[in-house]
Amino acid sequence: MSDSKVCIALDFKTKADVENFLKQFEGEKLYVKVGMELFYGQGIEMVEMIKKMGHKIFLDLKLHDIPNTVKSAMRQLAKLDVDMINVHASGGVEMMKAAIEGLEEGKVGDKRPLCIAVTCLTSLDQDVLDNQLLIHEPLDQVVLKWASNAKEAGLDGVVCSPLESKIIHDHLGEDFLTVTPGIRLATDNVNDQKRVTTPAMARELTSSYIVVGRTITGSNNPVETYKKVYQDFQG
Ligand code: C5P
Repeated sequence: MSDSKVCIALDFKTKADVENFLKQFEGEKLYVKVGMELFYGQGIEMVEMIKKMGHKIFLDLKLHDIPNTVKSAMRQLAKLDVDMINVHASGGVEMMKAAIEGLEEGKVGDKRPLCIAVTCLTSLDQDVLDNQLLIHEPLDQVVLKWASNAKEAGLDGVVCSPLESKIIHDHLGEDFLTVTPGIRLATDNVNDQKRVTTPAMARELTSSYIVVGRTITGSNNPVETYKKVYQDFQG
């Protein structure tokens, strides 16, 4: 199974947990997501270990600061030679452009990491937009506008719900990536995710990549479950 578009969220606490998990996938080239907890706890060493194993990495640190700071942070992070990285779209077009500039300046070889933007966090809803952030447009319009800002800034795509993929692709083109969490197999516990779709539904809804955590990491047989998710999504 090469060129996987199923990104496994490595939401583990320790290096040993990650090693034990990845050991089961010997011979398999995975796409894995390293988030804030793992990166802040285990740092660069963890990224290097995963790269040595030959897996692709989505470094999910969701940068959000003034453009100059994001640019210099990205210049440093690009040196890790990860495959995908992200920012918050709410930082604005100039901040996102600065992220790309930093990645270009720090890249290893001639290819910079893909850069995608988080639109509205799925933990926000219309009530929070209206009453806490004073954003009175409908949430789906906010997502679409922020996604189009990301495209204007030269980013490669967005993190969004599979349910938003189609409208984003319709407006911004098929090549603009939608990376979608909130995936569950039909037999799973949904945990804290509010709106979930199966891998097959995500494919039909035009997700470019799916991000899958507990369905695989919490399974009794992660390798089998990964294969099932992969087949469901990529065929
Ligand atoms: O275990 P589960 O499949 O719910 O994990 C999904 C992963 O995607 C987690 O790492 C979570 O932080 C991340 N994520 C998400 N929803 C977003 C953005 C990121 O679930 N809107």
